[in-house]
Amino acid sequence: MLPKLKNLLFFLVFLISAVFSSSSYHPLDPLTPSELNQTQTLINNYFSSPPQNVSFHYVGLDEPEKSHVLSWQSSSRNQQIPSRRAFAIVRVNSRSREIIVNLLNNSIISDKFYNGYGYPLLNYAEQLAAGNLTLSYPPFIASIRRRNLNLKEVVCLSFTVGWYGEIKSSRVVKVMCYYLNGTVNFYMRPIEGIATTVDLDRMKIVAFRDRVVTPVPKAEGTNYRFNSSVQGLVKQVGPGFTLDGHVVRWANWELHVSFDMRAGLMISLASIYDQEKGKYRSVMYRGFISELFVPYMDLTEEWYYRTFFDVGEYGFGLSTVTLEPLKDCPENATFMDGYITSQDGTSALMPNIICIFESYAGDIMWRHTEFGIPGQEIQEVRPEVSLVVRMVAAVGNYDYIVDWEFKESGSIKVKVGLTGLLLVRGTIYTNKDQIREEVYGPILAENTIGANHDHFINFNLDLDVDGVANSFIKNKLQTVRVLGNTSPRRSYWRVNSQTAKTESDARIQLGSGTTELLVVNPNKKTRVGNFVGYRLVPGVIAGPLLSDDDYPQIRGKFTKYNMWVTPYNKAEKWVAGLYTDQSHGDDGLPIWSLRNRNIENKDIVLWYTLGFHHVPCQEDFPIMPTLSGSFELRPTNFFEHNPVLKPSQYATDSANLSESGQ
Ligand code: MN
Ligand code: CU
Repeated sequence: MLPKLKNLLFFLVFLISAVFSSSSYHPLDPLTPSELNQTQTLINNYFSSPPQNVSFHYVGLDEPEKSHVLSWQSSSRNQQIPSRRAFAIVRVNSRSREIIVNLLNNSIISDKFYNGYGYPLLNYAEQLAAGNLTLSYPPFIASIRRRNLNLKEVVCLSFTVGWYGEIKSSRVVKVMCYYLNGTVNFYMRPIEGIATTVDLDRMKIVAFRDRVVTPVPKAEGTNYRFNSSVQGLVKQVGPGFTLDGHVVRWANWELHVSFDMRAGLMISLASIYDQEKGKYRSVMYRGFISELFVPYMDLTEEWYYRTFFDVGEYGFGLSTVTLEPLKDCPENATFMDGYITSQDGTSALMPNIICIFESYAGDIMWRHTEFGIPGQEIQEVRPEVSLVVRMVAAVGNYDYIVDWEFKESGSIKVKVGLTGLLLVRGTIYTNKDQIREEVYGPILAENTIGANHDHFINFNLDLDVDGVANSFIKNKLQTVRVLGNTSPRRSYWRVNSQTAKTESDARIQLGSGTTELLVVNPNKKTRVGNFVGYRLVPGVIAGPLLSDDDYPQIRGKFTKYNMWVTPYNKAEKWVAGLYTDQSHGDDGLPIWSLRNRNIENKDIVLWYTLGFHHVPCQEDFPIMPTLSGSFELRPTNFFEHNPVLKPSQYATDSANLSESGQ
């Protein structure tokens, strides 16, 4: 009786709050704290008789069908939102369950056991508990004593273990420990040789090994903290854009900014206003980081398994950080909060995790000076002003800065910056000349090896170029040899366009820089007859160097191609599978794509991987200056001509503001 009454009350409260907040309600808005708590209550009640221990690993918006969102959007948004559902992954009695909650009528729609390989996101509480368990484990304490270290200065972290062909596995992590004692930069002071394996479901140490004692690198020279008092006066500069709930309008752009505890920042429904046509035209339904794969190249016992999937194992959203005004984001930034779900299902505020700002970096959007007209000199310049949506995820040692930059010219530039701390290995060596064996990376400081590794960042990009039905075109630039005496020239290059009919046509390994990647709407042409389109201009690219049959590569097979294209499917979201921790590579893009579905004139999704091979160097120690990579989505015959000929209202305002602010 009582729970029912409670549910009813909850429902009433929810209805009232929904009515009052409907003005800024968008079907793709992230779950609110009250919706997260509603989900918690429903799920806890569901497992209350007999009482069972429920551990929450993911709660997020179960998105409405895309068709419903698009019709809601085109109906001037007055309609009731199509649906409001939460998707949760919980662990109950050491089993994963997927639960869908209908938030509008306060009920559980479905509850499904997951019986496949792999495990859900790790939550913070269990990682913390695994570390504390290790710190109080007598054999571990003895190992610390044997090294003459002070236990109070030891910090322990949980590392996911990967998969190496085992048929049966349990949900374990390896706990690796570091030494503070004189520095906050404990990552530069690994305590090598000890490995503790913790079963997370039983919260029990299941294996312990103290293999070899190597010196802990010294604290001296690892500090990166300096007294910073750059307080100054916070000048209030207008943001230059409007924020309506999660919808951002700036210059000719409109987009929805959202947050998910797994993906972090998500951009949806980005569309651009076309002055000539007098309407908004769609560019991208959705864009987010689907996975971030970081395999290390060190084969020693305590290192070989370090092949992290930061989005699917640790959660990019869970790892986001509160951004610091004037440092992480400029003075004119507006901040947005996010909410995540804790282990017990309670919602937790993540304040100021996204910032949005107009950026005037002093760049030139376009210019020309004309000297060719006698007696006249013509000069026309447009300053580049853009809108940046930023988040930072600190996944353990590494910090990733993610920028989505929208330009008036129609371009979307996506940039990822890598900074923070390297994972280093303690060693007996203090100089390169002493090293006669494979150490898997360069020596960076005394007793410190920086392990070689990769960063593969996969973007899920559902482009909807001027409508949902799109095609993917490979424009191959080919050298043509001139035969006979038709020209004094011997060669030139021309564009050979190939429309991808099925998924296998659209898997591309980049490298030579002679392939243009184009998404067009084959049902729409410009006045002069070109298909309207958007092009993906790659920046830093990297392909896998691991062999195909190596276990981490089986799990990270999406890296095999820089570009894949699939038909839109709401269920295909996470490139390396939904249950990434200890996955076997039997879920995810390479598997879905085996069906070789038709992708011509369909709603298509691009999966693009931006990658780095990282050979550490001494400047990365003790903390790494930002290394950036990017790609750009550029309109290509989307507009009839350069869309920013008139001096922009926004551009001049910003330029002036910026000047007066000096
Ligand atoms: Mn699409
Ligand atoms: Cu790196």
